[in-house]
Amino acid sequence: MKALILSGGYGTRLRPLTYSQQKQLIPVANKPVLFYAIEDVIEAGIDEIGIIVGPNAEQVKKTVLSRKWNAKIEFIYQGEPKGLAHAILVAKDFLGDEDFVMYLGDNILKEGIVKHKEHFEKGNYDASILLTEVPNPQQFGVAELSEDGKTIKRLVEKPKVPPSNLALVGIYFFKPVIHKAVRSIKPSWRNELEITDAIQWLIDHGYK
Ligand code: TTP
Repeated sequence: MKALILSGGYGTRLRPLTYSQQKQLIPVANKPVLFYAIEDVIEAGIDEIGIIVGPNAEQVKKTVLSRKWNAKIEFIYQGEPKGLAHAILVAKDFLGDEDFVMYLGDNILKEGIVKHKEHFEKGNYDASILLTEVPNPQQFGVAELSEDGKTIKRLVEKPKVPPSNLALVGIYFFKPVIHKAVRSIKPSWRNELEITDAIQWLIDHGYK
């Protein structure tokens, strides 16, 4: 399994901090938030990591390379941040035909991804996503689950009437079929290729 860590995007909602600094480099407890993502994937035994860079690419590269990592790290230039599914499109050559975890570089998980990776692999799923309960689901991508609570029926972006209080966390596991999904979807109203649309494409086409 490979890892794709996203460290592009403009980070407009964290301005003014992100005028001069890439969001994922903002320190949390004395280290850039991005380092937690890199540590989590290495802890899960992944040793090939692609880091998506966009605005402030050089800043991200310099910061990551200032430390020695127990993994091979490649930087992939996205250009304009055109969405999470677009990041997968531009990383196609790096990802090849392998399963991968996509980890948004501004997320921190309390317990890492080891058990989530195992769950994905044991279940033989085409995609596996992480969800968390939130008090304000209207502001997130939200999942509607099947009756047994094990599979996703539908994903909705920022729903006015949320089908649940389960919001998507920025960690996703994918089989290579996701490449077909990201090539099949169209940009959303905000002109981004949305990962929720790509996952919904998988559901609509009978993938697990
Ligand atoms: P977002 O939080 O959706 O976007 P953003 O970081 O640009 O912030 P804002 O909406 O406030 O402008 O992105 C989630 C993560 O994915 C974040 O770590 C940035 C990264 N990202 C990319 O690397 N490429 C992209 O095209 C997008 C949209 C996000």
